[in-house]
Amino acid sequence: MLPDAADLMKRIASHDVGPGVLELGVFKGKLLAVAAALFAGPVVGVDAMWNGLNNPLESADIEDVKKLIRNNVAKLAPGVNIEIVVSDTTLLTPNDISPLSANGFGFISVDAGHDPDPVVHDLGLATELLAPGGVIFLDDGFNSACPGVGEGMFRFLSEDRRLKAFATGYNKTLFTDSESHSLWLSRAYEWVRSGEEPMFERTRAQISANIAARWAPTLCGSEIVPFV
Ligand SMILES: C[S@@+](CC[C@H](N)C(=O)[O-])C[C@H]1O[C@@H](n2cnc3c(N)ncnc32)[C@H](O)[C@@H]1O
Repeated sequence: MLPDAADLMKRIASHDVGPGVLELGVFKGKLLAVAAALFAGPVVGVDAMWNGLNNPLESADIEDVKKLIRNNVAKLAPGVNIEIVVSDTTLLTPNDISPLSANGFGFISVDAGHDPDPVVHDLGLATELLAPGGVIFLDDGFNSACPGVGEGMFRFLSEDRRLKAFATGYNKTLFTDSESHSLWLSRAYEWVRSGEEPMFERTRAQISANIAARWAPTLCGSEIVPFV
C-alpha cells in the first residue's frame, strides 16, 4: 500500500462511514492494521492463505499467518479484535459474512484475486455488504502490472449500477453507493481544497487545469476526483 493511500483512508475516516471494516485479501495485514486503527466496529479480514500455487497452506502455517496478521494489527490498533476468515473470496456469499457485522461494513478494501472474474465477484460481494454511505477501496484498478483488475472493474461497473466511483489515485479506486456519490465527491474535493499537505499540490494543479478547460474526469459515467 502506498503511504498516500493510508492518508486517503484517514480522510475517509474523518467522516461518519458507519461501523465495520472488511478486507478481501489481507496478506500480512498492513492495510487491515491501518483500517482497524481508523474505523470503529467489527474488523473482518478474508484471505485464502494459499501458497504460491493456489494450494491451501498447511494448517500450522495458516495459524502462523493468522498470528502475523494479529501482531501487525495490534501494533497500530492495540486491543482491537479481528475476525480472520480463511476462504477463497469467490466461494463466499453475503450471508457468509453479514453475521459478522450487524449493520454491514462502512469501509471495505477489495484486494484479493487480481483476475477479472474474482474482481467482478468481489465487487459484487462488497456492494452487498456495504453500509449505506460507506466506501469501497479497490486496489490496482489502474495498475498496468495486473490489467485483469481493471478489466473486472469495468465489467462490474457496466453491468451493475449500484456503485459509483468518486475518486482515483495512489493505486486505489474509491466507490460508494450511487445515492451517496455526490456527497463523497464534494468531500473529496474539499480534502484537496483544504489540505495543506504537499501531497495534494499536483492534484490541485490538475483540478485547476480541468476547471480551466471546463472539463471533469469521469469513470463509467461518474465524476471522480483524480488524486495524481
Ligand atoms: C495484494 S495481497 C493483499 C495485500 C493487503 N490488502 C495489504 O494491502 O496489506 C493479496 C492477498 O489476496 C489473497 N488472495 C488472492 N486471491 C484470493 C481469493 N480468491 N480469495 C481469498 N484471498 C485471495 C492472497 O493470498 C494475498 O494474501
